[in-house]
Amino acid sequence: MRLSSTRRHWNRFAQTDPLWAILTDPDKKGNRWQVDEFFADGRRIVAAELTRVRAGYPELRTNSALDFGCGVGRLSQALAGHFQSVAGIDLSENMLAHAHRYNQHGARVRYLHNPHPDLRLLPDDTFDFVYSLLTLQHMEPAYALRYIEEFVRVAAPGGAIFFQLPATVTPRRRSFTLWPDTLAWRLWRWTKRKLAIEPVMEMHCIPRAEVEATLHAAGAEILHAYRYDAAGSEIESWGYLARKP
Ligand SMILES: C[S@@+](CC[C@H](N)C(=O)[O-])C[C@H]1O[C@@H](n2cnc3c(N)ncnc32)[C@H](O)[C@@H]1O
Repeated sequence: MRLSSTRRHWNRFAQTDPLWAILTDPDKKGNRWQVDEFFADGRRIVAAELTRVRAGYPELRTNSALDFGCGVGRLSQALAGHFQSVAGIDLSENMLAHAHRYNQHGARVRYLHNPHPDLRLLPDDTFDFVYSLLTLQHMEPAYALRYIEEFVRVAAPGGAIFFQLPATVTPRRRSFTLWPDTLAWRLWRWTKRKLAIEPVMEMHCIPRAEVEATLHAAGAEILHAYRYDAAGSEIESWGYLARKP
C-alpha cells in the first residue's frame, strides 16, 4: 500500500475502533477497551522495556524521547513518566486527535502529524531515546527501512534506539471453503479496501539481516537483538536496541 492509503485506513480505524486497532485483543473488539486499562498496559510495557534497555545500555539519558507511530499515545504517555519531554509522531491525524484528548502531561508531550515517508519534521541529533512498537510492521518495508535510517539521524549522539519488527511468518494452513472466490466477490473486496470502507491492517516482515544492515549503514551500533514474539506465535519478531555513536 502507498503511504496515503495506509493513512486512510488508520484514519478509518481511529474513527471506528481506535484502541482495539492498536491492541487487537479479540475480547476488546467493538470499543470494549477500558481507557484506564489500556493506558496502564502502556505504562507496564514501557517500564519493562526501559529496564531491559538500561541493562543493555546503562548510559541511557532521559531528557527527550520520540515515540514513532504513537497512535492515541499509549506509549507516549507512559514515556512521560521517565523522560522530561516526549514527542509522539503519527501518520493518522484522527489517531492524533484522540492522543491530544488523552494527554495528561501538558506541553511535556507534544504530538506531530507526519504524512511524509521520512521524518523531515524532526531535526538531526535530538532524542535520547527513539522508540517504536507495533508500527513498522504496518507499512511497506521500503518505508519502514527509510524510517529506521531516520531514527538514527534524529537520535542524539549517544542516544538509544529501540524498535520491534517481525522478521518472518510461518502461515498456518488455509481452511477449506465451500464458497468459490468469484470475480464479483474479489471486486467487492477490492472496492472496500480501496475506499477503506472496512479498514485493513497491513502486516509486513523484514528479515533481521536487512534491518541490521540498515542500522549499520545509517551509522548506528547494534547493542542487542531480542526475540520479541509471544510463545507459539506464527510470527517471529525481534526487538532491536541500537546506539548512535
Ligand atoms: C498498532 S498502532 C500502534 C500505536 C502505538 N505504537 C502503541 O503501541 O500504542 C500503529 C500506529 O502506527 C501508525 N502508523 C502507520 N504507519 C505510519 C507511518 N508511516 N508513520 C507514522 N505512523 C504510522 C498508525 O496510524 C497507528 O497509529
